[in-house]
Amino acid sequence: MAITTEIPETVQWNGKTVPVYPMETVSFERLLSQEPAELEKVLNCCETAGFFYLDLQGIDGRRMYDDQKKTLELMHRFFEAPLEEKNQYGLVQPHLGYEPIGSRTGVFPDTKDGYEMVKVSRDEIQKSSPHIPSPIKNSPDIKILENAIASCNIATKTILSALSTALGLTGAARFENSHRNDRPSTTTLSMMHYIPSDPNDTKIGHQKHTDISSLTLLFSEEWGMQVRPPKAREFGFVAPKDGCAIVNVGDSLRFASGHKMQSCIHRVVPFDPTEHRYSIAYFLRAEDETMFTDSEGRYITAGQWHDEKFMAFTDIPAMQAKALPTMLLGGMTEEDGDEPVAQVNVPSAAMASNGLKEIVVDA
Ligand SMILES: [Fe+2]
Repeated sequence: MAITTEIPETVQWNGKTVPVYPMETVSFERLLSQEPAELEKVLNCCETAGFFYLDLQGIDGRRMYDDQKKTLELMHRFFEAPLEEKNQYGLVQPHLGYEPIGSRTGVFPDTKDGYEMVKVSRDEIQKSSPHIPSPIKNSPDIKILENAIASCNIATKTILSALSTALGLTGAARFENSHRNDRPSTTTLSMMHYIPSDPNDTKIGHQKHTDISSLTLLFSEEWGMQVRPPKAREFGFVAPKDGCAIVNVGDSLRFASGHKMQSCIHRVVPFDPTEHRYSIAYFLRAEDETMFTDSEGRYITAGQWHDEKFMAFTDIPAMQAKALPTMLLGGMTEEDGDEPVAQVNVPSAAMASNGLKEIVVDA
């Protein structure tokens, strides 16, 4: 667990000073109680920045945070297993199964991604015999996954409910009504393992993008996630914060809100190339049949948006360039364009500066 006594304003990374963007903290227990000030706060976060910390330290959220710690232990075991066992079923569906390292585009030019990932979908975990690779297919592990998915589902639907109330939505128009458990969706728990890298590696990080999902709930103890808030001139880090998950708005909620909410532009970089990074991301996605208008003005289903964007994620850059111009960033625009990042060999010790010494990582 990362213990942050003070979040620095900047850090040294990749040979330059990079901002650490401050984030609002929203209380899960206050959302559960529908406290008006907290409802306004979460709506404001979604309409301005597109991301925030979700404080899970209260009695309602603490068990959810514990569920993710158990998932982290399970992930360590899983990713240490032989490749053929991890890849037992391969990628059964885009939101279910195992993706080896290098399946997607990386963060630097001409690189592939630097992480492996196993995904367990919400639809699948509700089945009597889910497709889960054998290293974690036993009763205790399935219970851990069930608990983790249930926790994330409750947390993200609570946020949707709060947003619906804050916007005065009623009945079927409420966001949570298009995220029902018994309707097919691509909602999934993704467990990711970023491997250490060196400057000569060609499999590094995860390219900039916005998420397909309505909301993403992220747990990670290591640094590495960068965001580019609306109107920001550059990417900056978000700091892991003790007792909190990071929540970001994805394309589906942006579209469902009439494009008022901000889909968070983000990427993952090797903050410390020598370390392993583990992250748990719950992608709460709308029911496949949900309709919304995308940034091209097309009235499409959430399922179609998922399928097209997933294809874009896995395509080579030349093919990505042929995708709809609003596909990778969900129609979000960047100030001053995007400055490609050159890969620089920065010793990990040089990175632990500017206040980072105050951050203790208990891996
Ligand atoms: Fe993402």
